[in-house]
Amino acid sequence: MFSKKTQQKAPSLTAKHLINCKVVPLRHSILAMLPKNAIVAEIGVLGGDWSDKIIKNTTPEKLVLIDTFCSNDYPHLKRFTKNSHFDFINSKFSTPSIDIRKGLSWECLSEFEENTFDWIYVDAAHDYKSVKKDLVEVHRVLKPNGYIIMNDYIMHDHIMKEDYGVVQATNEFMLDNNFEMLCFALHPDMFCDVLIKEIPTQ
Ligand SMILES: C[S@@+](CC[C@H](N)C(=O)[O-])C[C@H]1O[C@@H](n2cnc3c(N)ncnc32)[C@H](O)[C@@H]1O
Repeated sequence: MFSKKTQQKAPSLTAKHLINCKVVPLRHSILAMLPKNAIVAEIGVLGGDWSDKIIKNTTPEKLVLIDTFCSNDYPHLKRFTKNSHFDFINSKFSTPSIDIRKGLSWECLSEFEENTFDWIYVDAAHDYKSVKKDLVEVHRVLKPNGYIIMNDYIMHDHIMKEDYGVVQATNEFMLDNNFEMLCFALHPDMFCDVLIKEIPTQ
């Protein structure tokens, strides 16, 4: 069943945005391409399962976890409810190197100074307007030569039957800010990740 609403198309990238792009089987491969012992943020945390992978594989010096923390857990796990989400994450990650921020992603990011982060994983709201707002703040707080990973680089969630704006917002951001794609990570349901970085000036 296709959505009857016409989706806004994503602007096309050009060869210069893709020339260095590697395709990998899963998002886990991207972690090996990122700096270790870095200053990192994950935007959209849910149960902290991906945060665990970030910590294990990249040992960040500082990890900022941002979420509204008012979601239910995956139905098959049921580790927390909307009411206990924040407490669950706080007790799971109670260590000084992890900074937990509760609120809308772009508002939480606005609390940080520019050029703070080495890399940022973006996986909060997936609608176009929210991703645009996230990317404005992500760009502001990212260090020069920092990396952004956009999760769910897909036009439509075929499981929840919901349009996403991640591809449109990401491509616009790359074109406007001269970013290239360094990695495209496949996913079994095609909820792919992309790793992007500013194109170095020669
Ligand atoms: C897909 S889950 C994140 C999954 C996690 N990154 C992982 O890979 O395991 C999305 C999370 O984003 C949060 N979220 C959605 N919209 C948000 C927003 N505007 N600001 C902050 N968090 C948001 C939800 O509460 C949810 O926990």
